[in-house]
Amino acid sequence: MDQILIRGGVPLDGTIQISGAKNAGLPLMAASLLSAESLTLTNLPDLADIASMASLLESLGVDVHRNGGEGPLSMCRMTVPTITETTAPYELVRKMRASVLVLGPLLARAGHARVSLPGGCAIGTRPVDLHLKAMQQLGADITLEEGYVDARAPDCGLKGGHIVFPFVTVGGTENALMAATLAEGETVISNAAREPEITDLAHCLVAMGAQIEGIGTDTLKVQGVSSLHGAEYAVVPDRIETGSYAVAAAITGGELKLTGTRLDLIESVAEVLTQCGVDIVEDREAGSLMVSRTNGRLRGVDIMTEPYPGFPTDMQAQLMALLSVADGASMITESIFENRFMHVPELCRMGANINVHGASAIVRGVEQLSAAPVMATDLRASVSLVLAGLTASDETVVSRVYHLDRGYERLPEKLAACGAHITRASE
Ligand code: EPZ
Repeated sequence: MDQILIRGGVPLDGTIQISGAKNAGLPLMAASLLSAESLTLTNLPDLADIASMASLLESLGVDVHRNGGEGPLSMCRMTVPTITETTAPYELVRKMRASVLVLGPLLARAGHARVSLPGGCAIGTRPVDLHLKAMQQLGADITLEEGYVDARAPDCGLKGGHIVFPFVTVGGTENALMAATLAEGETVISNAAREPEITDLAHCLVAMGAQIEGIGTDTLKVQGVSSLHGAEYAVVPDRIETGSYAVAAAITGGELKLTGTRLDLIESVAEVLTQCGVDIVEDREAGSLMVSRTNGRLRGVDIMTEPYPGFPTDMQAQLMALLSVADGASMITESIFENRFMHVPELCRMGANINVHGASAIVRGVEQLSAAPVMATDLRASVSLVLAGLTASDETVVSRVYHLDRGYERLPEKLAACGAHITRASE
């Protein structure tokens, strides 16, 4: 297994190209199942989770063709004239929960889906009950057996319905939206998630011929069509990668130009960073952000994670690393997942002063973090340890790098190009 070694204390200076968003790419890939014609995605990041989704789609009969390009030049064409298999097996779903996103498309196009229940997760129980209720609302018959969800559409196909989510679910909204595009008649999705990844999916579905109103709002209205056609679509920039590198600039007291991204994707994060004393300036025309903290100490702030447009749970761990070295006390409240503080003991091993009380953590800023061997149990927790390592004295060793490979494209290379002393090595 690989490790990442970081010798902290270097203010970062340079340019980082932001990749396409993992969490947009995954549902967009699943959407290829909805059409007999090719869906071509550009700006799809080269990540372990994207490769897992490609394997799952191939097992369902999708021809997946990728070129080796990077950034906007990367291309993935997915074609499935006929769906040959409707089971998403445990071995693949266990590796990546987002596999459940094939449920809606398979059910809508093939009339049947058998998807392994994902099981527990490091950050919370993460059930899929709301996905299943949404499918039932569209007429699907659902049974649970031997750890699998077996979903069957009526003989005449799915029927439009009114889906009301009791609370916001990103994946649930994506599954419902994809299934509704091919359901007969009108579907209304109330209390829909509004994350940029949902908007991206909706725009791609429209490019494939779907009829969707209310894109970007919490009420999506879909008029079902009999079939979708092929399309070419560019994946939205990764707002969490953008935010993570903005924190890298801030925590090292450096200056980074982040290209291929937009401020409107990270407004709530930018607002918090500004309160902490970080400067963020957008060049809209160039599609880039300049992030710097060249004078003064960081200031503590209170944050609470919320569905978009609130502060994203996927940036909570990175902000905690930053606030660990800010002046004063900060309170971080996690409202989306019940167990997303697994990075706290590791940050404390690096000298951070953090106390968790239920869903909140009190962070009392310290002067400096110190290096330690650390490891994390999920993607964002892992990157928070890399960020902490960038400011710590001496050499931090971050293990379980496979978490980072799931969601950050060429992270050591991108940071090293801006002056970070960071290398990847086998244990
Ligand atoms: C997506 O997960 C993201 N994953 C997550 O990113 C992100 O943290 C999360 O949305 C919240 O923004 C992908 O897009 C692939 P949810 P998802 O359904 O769709 C509960 C990362 O680091 N819930 O919005 O699974 C659930 O347990 C990852 O990139 C139910 O109870 O999240 C959670 O508490 C991690 N029943 C809350 O809702 C359901 O049927 C929100 O989950 C569905 C969800």
